[in-house]
Amino acid sequence: MAFQSVSTLNSLCWWREGEDLAGSEEKIIWREVRRRLFGGNFHERFGGNFYSTWAASPQPAKRKRSKPKPKRKAKPKSKISSPPSQAIETIDQSLILIMSSIVLKTVIFLGSARNIAPAWGGDTRLCDRVANWVKSTITSRNDTLGDDNITHQIHVVDPLEVFGPGGALSHSGGELRAPTFFMKSDALPESTRKLQEVIKDADCYLVVSPEYNHTIPPALSSVMGHFGGSNYKCKPVGIVTYSPGPFAGMRAAMAIQIMCHELGCLPVSKLCGLPSPSDLLELDGTPKDANHRMLQQLPELLTQLEWMAVAMKNQRCVVLK
Ligand SMILES: Cc1cc2nc3c(=O)[nH]c(=O)nc-3n(C[C@H](O)[C@H](O)[C@H](O)COP(=O)(O)O)c2cc1C
Repeated sequence: MAFQSVSTLNSLCWWREGEDLAGSEEKIIWREVRRRLFGGNFHERFGGNFYSTWAASPQPAKRKRSKPKPKRKAKPKSKISSPPSQAIETIDQSLILIMSSIVLKTVIFLGSARNIAPAWGGDTRLCDRVANWVKSTITSRNDTLGDDNITHQIHVVDPLEVFGPGGALSHSGGELRAPTFFMKSDALPESTRKLQEVIKDADCYLVVSPEYNHTIPPALSSVMGHFGGSNYKCKPVGIVTYSPGPFAGMRAAMAIQIMCHELGCLPVSKLCGLPSPSDLLELDGTPKDANHRMLQQLPELLTQLEWMAVAMKNQRCVVLK
């Protein structure tokens, strides 16, 4: 939303509030709108300049009253101290309409194609537990960036599927026999072309990966490496790693950063590393303790990712030579 319209809306709130609506429901509603939109402090949020410029500009001379102003009859004060819940709901709906919303196309690459439970027991694929948590955190997130409401349209790229029978990369395999950028686009299978489009169309990426032999699992480097850097360029990536051990896959995270740099998608500085995810998350990704310190890493990473994604989305219309 442009500054102009924000300030206009703020003025409107003040004006409606200042009207002779003393104690009425309407006055309280307008005060609530202003509180919710501007945190009650427009001056701080949008900078002192707005008011100081206004104050410094020539103000119309005050007209002198010839007759003393007749005293108004005091209206009985309403007993309502807060807006009725129905009104708040209406305000919330209106505010959603007032704020512009940005839908980020977010591609999540999973780093594991494991399909066998360990002989000693445990998850068939630990990745699912973590990916479920990442997905539900993103979808339940209702974040704002400046005056924009940010939501995500998620597409998950799962190596189990894309390399599986009939998958978009099954013709090439995890060993990367047929990189897409070595082929003419009309020679690409339809499903491969569609996956390439999804990756190229994305505004940002997330990688959810384990650590194999202190580095990137082959399934992840193969899926991402199938598509050339032109598909990823000028977009940010957030990296989430995990491990049943105490180091949370951090060595893989370092290697994934380098790989992503080479592909042209820039890793945000916050990382999310989960040690022993089975202690933190249920199978469906529900946190065992939502306040656990380790689980607070993801929202912070997503805030950076969204900021970068919106900034880079705006800048991508400038052709990079
Ligand atoms: C080939 C292989 C190498 C592994 N190397 C590491 C490692 O370097 N560091 C680590 O923390 N865990 C390592 N592990 C253990 C994995 O973290 C563990 O199996 C985890 O469940 C893998 O995630 P996934 O089930 O989603 O594939 C390795 C597992 C495999 C199969």
